[in-house]
Amino acid sequence: MDYIKDFEKIVSQQLSRVEKMKQTQDFIDYQSLDKIIIGVIGGDGIGPIITAHAKRVLEYLLGDEVKKGKVEFRTIEGCTIEKRAAAGKAIPDDVLDEIKKCNVLLKGPTTTPRKGDKWANVESANVAMRKELDLFANVRPVKVPELGIDWTFFRENTECLYAMGSQGINITDDLAIDFRVITTQGTERIAKLAFDYARKNGKKRVTIITKANVVKTTDGKFLEVCKRVAKDYPDIEVDDWYIDIMAAKLIDEKRRSQFEVMILPNLYGDILTDEAAEFQGGVGTAGSANIGTRYSMFEAIHGSAPRMVEEGREIYADPSSVIRAGAMLLSHIGYQKEADKLFDALEICTVTEKKLKVTGRPDGATGAEFADYILEKVSE
Ligand code: IPM
Ligand code: MG
Repeated sequence: MDYIKDFEKIVSQQLSRVEKMKQTQDFIDYQSLDKIIIGVIGGDGIGPIITAHAKRVLEYLLGDEVKKGKVEFRTIEGCTIEKRAAAGKAIPDDVLDEIKKCNVLLKGPTTTPRKGDKWANVESANVAMRKELDLFANVRPVKVPELGIDWTFFRENTECLYAMGSQGINITDDLAIDFRVITTQGTERIAKLAFDYARKNGKKRVTIITKANVVKTTDGKFLEVCKRVAKDYPDIEVDDWYIDIMAAKLIDEKRRSQFEVMILPNLYGDILTDEAAEFQGGVGTAGSANIGTRYSMFEAIHGSAPRMVEEGREIYADPSSVIRAGAMLLSHIGYQKEADKLFDALEICTVTEKKLKVTGRPDGATGAEFADYILEKVSE
């Protein structure tokens, strides 16, 4: 009956998280800091390579700010799967201390082990970082103008099946149970952020995505809380869809261009945003913002692509995902002009001019060549 104690522990952890969330903090104003420290975490596999390209681009765009002492780039070492597995921790303590000294992070993908891998089955570094820094909103834009697609997903980032993803219980050899967590406060804050974003950006519709007809308690709460928040935004139209039909409707040419802003629990958001990114050219092109009140972290939406490294193709990995994450970072910390320049360069290099094609293979450009191409455009 040990599992009853385990369950009690889980409940009390989550109840204290709720208490913490009740003490809501205002969002940090990065520009009011004496110095903004941008931590750069390379990660695993193709991560260190593509992140270095993105860092090079950001260093160029923020060159004057670095000279003035307003911005510092700081490389965070040791967040590799080797070190994490050796420490038996998702993020070793000393690495986490260094991370917390930064204000904002640019992060390469990290390897997430699973049972049977050569690594200890530690929790995902992504998931741990999102929880540790309370990065509750995972904002993932997908734009394909020629298809009329302009979507912004607000994926809740600290709850759902991810909250206790490494704390499931094997009740017996035959019975395994995981826990799904949805809270009022956790849902309110993601919903508010999505509606505020919609209002500020002239979006007319917000879509709530759940499976509340089947997963009645947790998804039921998510839907109810989102609808309650929606009442404060009478100027915005709200609709709600189930995740299965939503996955289908993203493919429906007539329907898909009607979606604008989407709010969804963590796991549905994980899955749907990979599907969505495919319209834009795949996960290699998509950046994502992990936003909290005190910290924020910007990363690609894809993994570390160990196969590319095994096959010696890492220099051909597409850095546009992390470069796009870098543009989102610039905008978030108050460098909108520089961010716009970089977004424009990405548009030129991947859509309109597209002088180089990154294919992930030797028939395409290398990541370094692509980054040079971006630098050429931002310096014009
Ligand atoms: C993502 C990734 C992560 C997630 C993995 C690497 C843990 O797929 O950022 O979408 O599941 O959130
Ligand atoms: Mg994912």
